[in-house]
Amino acid sequence: STRVLTGITTTGTPHLGNYAGAIRPAIEASKADNAESFLFLADYHALIKCHEPERVRESARSCAATWLACGLDVDRVTFYRQSDIPEITELSWILTTIAAKGLMNRAHAYKAAVQDNLESGDADADKGIEMGLFSYPILMTADILIFNGQKIPVGKDQTQHIEMARDIAQRFNYIYGDTFALPEAVVDDSAMIIPGLDGRKMSKSYNNTIPLFEAEKKFKKLINKIKTNSLEPGEPKDPEGCSLFSIYSAFTNESQQADVRKMYADGIAWGEMKKFLFEFLNEELKDKREEYNRLMADPAELDRALKVGAEKARNVATPFLQEIRSKVGIGGLA
Ligand code: TYM
Repeated sequence: STRVLTGITTTGTPHLGNYAGAIRPAIEASKADNAESFLFLADYHALIKCHEPERVRESARSCAATWLACGLDVDRVTFYRQSDIPEITELSWILTTIAAKGLMNRAHAYKAAVQDNLESGDADADKGIEMGLFSYPILMTADILIFNGQKIPVGKDQTQHIEMARDIAQRFNYIYGDTFALPEAVVDDSAMIIPGLDGRKMSKSYNNTIPLFEAEKKFKKLINKIKTNSLEPGEPKDPEGCSLFSIYSAFTNESQQADVRKMYADGIAWGEMKKFLFEFLNEELKDKREEYNRLMADPAELDRALKVGAEKARNVATPFLQEIRSKVGIGGLA
């Protein structure tokens, strides 16, 4: 069987990019006969950017409800919260002792933070950057390796982290003998990078997201706010590079896309295209949204699901960590 594993950081509410890039492909993959899936809430990752406990909790609730509303089947999938599995943070330390600092220096998120400091003329390039941000890829590596994750469905923005996990796994295997499977990113072509309201990558840090389960009226408003070029109705339009088309493509097959390409060539007005996109997405999401709202009103059900998942996950993680500890020389002295 193949181990499929992926997580979402619990900051904010999941958006269309999370859904198309990771949630939907992961749930699809979990349905395959030979798949053994580990899908989780990366709540310790959330502490890196967010120091507001109530927001972290609210977001964990929202991410849990999203996974379940999108059809995750807790009987088939091991569904858990990172912080319920202490083996992950323990492994993270063991991996920290072998991960090269130079490798971490090259992580996109850290480099971007350094770049910001340099651009604002700060003499200290590391000013205000916490160790959590710097070591983030190591915790993510531990998430993956503790369950020997092989296929990792993610958006394109995460592929560098998966490469790093591979690198660290290889180094561990080299030093201590074959232990970890080497993980591989699985990136859905059409959903590589979903653009946000302003055309940049949809991301909580750019404040340009469309929450997946936004109430219908607000959802429609947000779709209407997506930036387009200034071509008039009747003028032929290019679907490539158009955010509306990119979003639509992430949810549809080629024949559906061909129809919309034709609408662009025929000069559809942006207002009409937005209405079309809204109606399409709303149809796709409305039942799930209803289920999401039901779950958000009953967080005890979420806790119950996560408790079962934590047990299943620890049944795998506890003996494996024991093996790892013994390989590195930690534990029993006899
Ligand atoms: P996060 O929480 O930022 O995003 C969750 C998933 O959504 C994908 N994604 C996107 N895909 C397409 N277009 C977008 N605009 C877009 N924005 C986000 C991300 O690529 C990701 O797959 N570090 C991870 C969470 C994590 C993880 C892991 C993932 C922690 N441990 C182990 C896989 C394996 C993160 O912050 O994702």
